[in-house]
Amino acid sequence: MKIDEGIFWVGAIDWDIRDFHGYLTRRGTTYNAYLIKDEKKVLIDTVKYNFYEELIKKINEITNVEELDYIIINHVEVDHSGSLSRIIERAKRAKIIASKRGEEGLRKYYGENLNIEVVKTGDQLNIGKRTLTFIEAPMLHWPDSMFTYTDGILMPNDAFGQHLASSGRYDDEVDEEVLMEEAAKYYANILMPLSDLIIRKLQELEKINLPIKIIAPSHGVIWRSNPSKIINAYKKWSEGMVKEKLILVYDTMWRSTEIMARKIAEGAISQGIEVKVFKLRASDATDIVTEILDAGAVVVGSPTINNSMFPTVSAFMNYIVGLKPKRKIWAFFGSYGWGGGAVAQMMEVAKRGGFHIYENLEVKYAPTDEELRRCFDLGKRIAQEIKSIKA
Ligand code: FEO
Repeated sequence: MKIDEGIFWVGAIDWDIRDFHGYLTRRGTTYNAYLIKDEKKVLIDTVKYNFYEELIKKINEITNVEELDYIIINHVEVDHSGSLSRIIERAKRAKIIASKRGEEGLRKYYGENLNIEVVKTGDQLNIGKRTLTFIEAPMLHWPDSMFTYTDGILMPNDAFGQHLASSGRYDDEVDEEVLMEEAAKYYANILMPLSDLIIRKLQELEKINLPIKIIAPSHGVIWRSNPSKIINAYKKWSEGMVKEKLILVYDTMWRSTEIMARKIAEGAISQGIEVKVFKLRASDATDIVTEILDAGAVVVGSPTINNSMFPTVSAFMNYIVGLKPKRKIWAFFGSYGWGGGAVAQMMEVAKRGGFHIYENLEVKYAPTDEELRRCFDLGKRIAQEIKSIKA
């Protein structure tokens, strides 16, 4: 599939994957690789190892894999570099191009004997009619990550991607609502902890003033109808946008924490804000994080078990702390039988993450009417606090 003069998509569609290292890929994904046929033949990224045959078939429809001159590895993670060692068995003259950290990663994964040329930001490679420019993008999202650019086409690997398997290869060939939902989920679960770096990288791209007509990421569809749409969404997400929205996450043993959760939610709803409630055993953490991306507050509840958080809550707290969501109000609640512990532990984890803790509430056995009034009041006050921040 041709995406521009001499540039072809040669990737693979993974319709089946539902667990991408723990990320719920409800709509599958793609591994996008691009082939440039100019005086030199250049492959940009490969595909996950089990799609190697598909990649080779697509390359051979355009040129012979043996004739590749360069293989650019924008990112070493194996969903993109996984077919490299098998390709270079056939593309014997191809030189691999990667960032300095990319070189380290590739040698560790695939051996010391690789023929690698290291590039840095601003380096260029003339391949005939086209010139490729490289832009290092460390920690977007690995230390080795880099972007490749040519004549208005940015190939930023994981950045601006979405886990979305589709017959359409372009943003205007898929449902827009689904596309933005998957782009937000991808940002929330992969890029959110790197938001400050993203802000700086977007500013750097604006400063060097590269015209961008197409963004061709390594997952999902290619942004061609309006690439500024995803750039603007990234600006909004990286700054930690806040809507009048409260996310309540909990788990429960004998329903005491659940009853408290419902009362807190009622209190917040009474103030006219959007509220979404997730019981952890009935939800997927990657979906919850997507909802947290633009929420103003997150309230987490756990019963105490063995003086600790409930296991699902513990896993959630560790996950969310690592993702470093910005500009949220946090509150914690729970119930216990003879000795507490869950609420204190949740707060300890939240403090470690630098979260702004608004309040906490813990009850013994089952909540009394008075304690339920306090739950309602907590939800109501947090909702008012979100509204005041918005104002
Ligand atoms: Fe899609 Fe960081 O790999």
